[in-house]
Amino acid sequence: MNRSSKEVIQENRDYTLFSWSVQSTSNPIYMARSQGVWFWDGDGNRWLDFSSQLININVGHQHPRVLQAIKQQVDELCFAGPSFATEPRGLLGKKLSEVTGLAKSFFCLGGAEANENAMKMARLYTSRDKIITRYRSYHGATMGAMTASGDPRRWPVEPGIPGIVRAFDPYCYRCPFGKTPDSCQRECVSHIEEIIQMEGPHTIAAIMVEGITGSNGLLVPPDDYYPKLRALCDKYGILLITDEVMSGFGRTGRWLSTQHYGIQPDIVTSAKGLTSGYMPLGAVIVSQPIADFFENQMLWGGLTYSGHPVSCAAALANLSVYEEEHLFENTENQGRYLGERLEAMRKRYACVGDVRYIGLFSVLELVKDKASKEPLAPFNGTSPEMQKLAGFLRSKQIYAFSRFNMLWVCPPLVISREELRWGLDVIEEALALVDEALGVVGAAAD
Ligand SMILES: Cc1ncc(COP(=O)(O)O)c(C=O)c1O
Repeated sequence: MNRSSKEVIQENRDYTLFSWSVQSTSNPIYMARSQGVWFWDGDGNRWLDFSSQLININVGHQHPRVLQAIKQQVDELCFAGPSFATEPRGLLGKKLSEVTGLAKSFFCLGGAEANENAMKMARLYTSRDKIITRYRSYHGATMGAMTASGDPRRWPVEPGIPGIVRAFDPYCYRCPFGKTPDSCQRECVSHIEEIIQMEGPHTIAAIMVEGITGSNGLLVPPDDYYPKLRALCDKYGILLITDEVMSGFGRTGRWLSTQHYGIQPDIVTSAKGLTSGYMPLGAVIVSQPIADFFENQMLWGGLTYSGHPVSCAAALANLSVYEEEHLFENTENQGRYLGERLEAMRKRYACVGDVRYIGLFSVLELVKDKASKEPLAPFNGTSPEMQKLAGFLRSKQIYAFSRFNMLWVCPPLVISREELRWGLDVIEEALALVDEALGVVGAAAD
């Protein structure tokens, strides 16, 4: 077709709407082709995808085995309605049961739909109404999932759906209870018990949390957080729903991030890394008791594209790439190096207040001052320094996600040491510029 970047971008801007943007300020990159951890823009520049697109293209761009599985499925059976049995649908359900230890999957098209259906199933199963979620969370942009989110993106849809009650997060760097590791009694869990008492335990269907909070700051809970939360749910007959849309399927080096904590949720929601984004797919994976319940009770829900054969075939191939190419091992191995580099940055640069990481899922939290922890940009806002950082990375063709005062490093799980090192070196250059802009070069001591 040989059209210029300018033409393609103009047409996109003239005839399509970009998400989460004031349209006149949207500034898309034209992605012309991609491979592995790289993509190329329309002018032939090569970019390092340090964000795995939207933290989803886990097996990297254009993986030949996933492409082949999609092509084969398209030729064989491109579509079957949701009431039909197909080979990829059954095989995928079985595989998800094996890797999660749960029983059955309901398929949808993405993360928001998975969370909508999970909340609905929890309400049907428990005959209770309320869902407890957390403030620093994102569960999707549809009405129910958006209300369930605590993130400021929910404000425009409020009052949203009824029955959502929010709790605080395991955010140790800025503990909402003013605790330090020495004085902490896991108030981030015990205050949820108080909320349960105040709301009425018999009214609460589920507690829904991101496995590891992603786009609200990569909050890695302490080791006993999940065992305590699980025990709390069991005490009151409340279901534990873990949203593994971002944190699941390899991102932390496990199938599910809660597998690091040795607990079993009642319902897991998944999307993103399930197909690495090659086809749209979400899943609600439920425990045996919940699956048994729906043997005799109506499952009030459905979608034209539930169990889409091409999406299921893409997922099956994608999951086999994780296993056969040992990508979880690579995630742990490169993740260790990533963690060491981030810790060194925290020590070296005055603007790095905290670093949080698990596997290839990581964030740098940036501050104006290490002692006061004043954020480099306000909550739900930006600042000249953050813009400078983002602009610098863009000028070096590093594609990385930044928001408020945070910068994420979440490359595809196929990344090599060389590629990771190169990207992190550029991030260090950007941090040095921020220190310079703040006039705090050399003031990094912890
Ligand atoms: C934790 C989490 N849940 C749900 C969603 C929504 O997924 P989708 O955009 O596929 O609807 C996202 C998207 O970023 C997410 O990070």
